[in-house]
Amino acid sequence: MQKPEIINLPKFEDPRGNLSFIEEFKHIPFKIERVYWIYDVPGGQVRGGHAFKKQQEFIVALSGSFDVVVDDGTIKQTFSLNRSYYGLYIPAGYWRQMQNFSTNSVAIVLSSTEFDENDYIRDYLDFLKSKKNV
Ligand code: TYD
Repeated sequence: MQKPEIINLPKFEDPRGNLSFIEEFKHIPFKIERVYWIYDVPGGQVRGGHAFKKQQEFIVALSGSFDVVVDDGTIKQTFSLNRSYYGLYIPAGYWRQMQNFSTNSVAIVLSSTEFDENDYIRDYLDFLKSKKNV
């Protein structure tokens, strides 16, 4: 089973401003079917708090910073994202939540699937059952 991991992206440093990019299958291990972003998050708010059955994703802090807590049903890991030249790859089957958003932070999420509410596991007990931990 694949694991969540930080993936460094190409970075072209330039006195005019830096540039980074992502190509599907090259920098991330899936085809990009959807892109969404989370912004204007009021202080103290938490986003996510669910798992996906099939969806893989790659999250980049395009601006500001936030933490992503990733949980396999046994172990929780916290990844701090605060640069736009790397991101967090999350395979399917992990509970994840996003928190500690700084003012004006922007999270961009590249997803391997179109939006499908049926792909969500929104109940933590159901998630643990899917992992056979309860
Ligand atoms: P959701 O993924 O539940 O966000 P969070 O877990 O942070 O609360 O998305 C919130 C709502 O936005 C969801 O009810 C449906 C809608 N939505 C779409 O219609 N398309 C999308 O691609 C996403 C990510 C969400």
